[in-house]
Amino acid sequence: MQIVLFLHSLLRWGVLLFGIWSIINALRGLTTKSVYTASDNRANLFFMICCDIQLLIGLALFFFNGWFTKVQEGMGTVMKNNTARFFTVEHATIMIVAWFLVHIGRSVVKKTNSDQGKHKKALLFFGLALLLIIISIPWPFRAEVARPLLRGFH
Ligand code: HEM
Repeated sequence: MQIVLFLHSLLRWGVLLFGIWSIINALRGLTTKSVYTASDNRANLFFMICCDIQLLIGLALFFFNGWFTKVQEGMGTVMKNNTARFFTVEHATIMIVAWFLVHIGRSVVKKTNSDQGKHKKALLFFGLALLLIIISIPWPFRAEVARPLLRGFH
C-alpha cells in the first residue's frame, strides 16, 4: 500500500499539470479567438486519463488501506474524527464529483460545434473540476489532514 499511496501522491501533480494546461489553452483560445486544436484536445484527454487513474488508485486506498473498515465500524465515529471524515467522505466525494465533471466536460466539448463554444465549455467544466480538486487535496498547510507534497518510502 506504500507504493499505491506514493503513486496517488505523485499523480496529483499530473492531474494539476494537465488541468492547468487545459485551462490555459481554453483561456488562450477565447482571448485570441483561435480554433480548437488537436493539442487542446490532447491536454484535456491527459487530464481525464490522470483523473481516471487517480480514481482507481483512490478507490484501492479507500478499500484496502483501512478506511473502509473504519466506515464499517460506524459512520458516527468517522464523522467525529476530522481526518477520517476528510478522507472517507469529503476528499472521496468531491474528487468523484470532479471526475464526473471532467468526463461530462469532454463529451460536451466534443459535441459542441463552434471553436469558441468548445473553449467556453472546456473552461467551464475543466475549470470547475480543477477548482474542486485543488480545494480537496490534503496540502501540507491543511492542519489536521496535512500530507506531504511528495510522499517518500519509509
Ligand atoms: C483528482 C483526484 C485525486 C487527487 C488529486 C487526490 C490526491 C490525494 C493526495 C495528494 C493524497 C495524500 C497522499 C499522501 O498521503 O501522500 C490523497 C489521499 C487519499 N485519497 Fe485521494 N486524490 C484524488 C482522488 C481520490 C478518490 C476519487 C478517492 C476515493 C474514492 C481518493 C481516496 C483517497 C484516500 C482514501 C486517501 C488517504 C490514503 C491513506 O492515507 O491511506 N482520492 N489523495
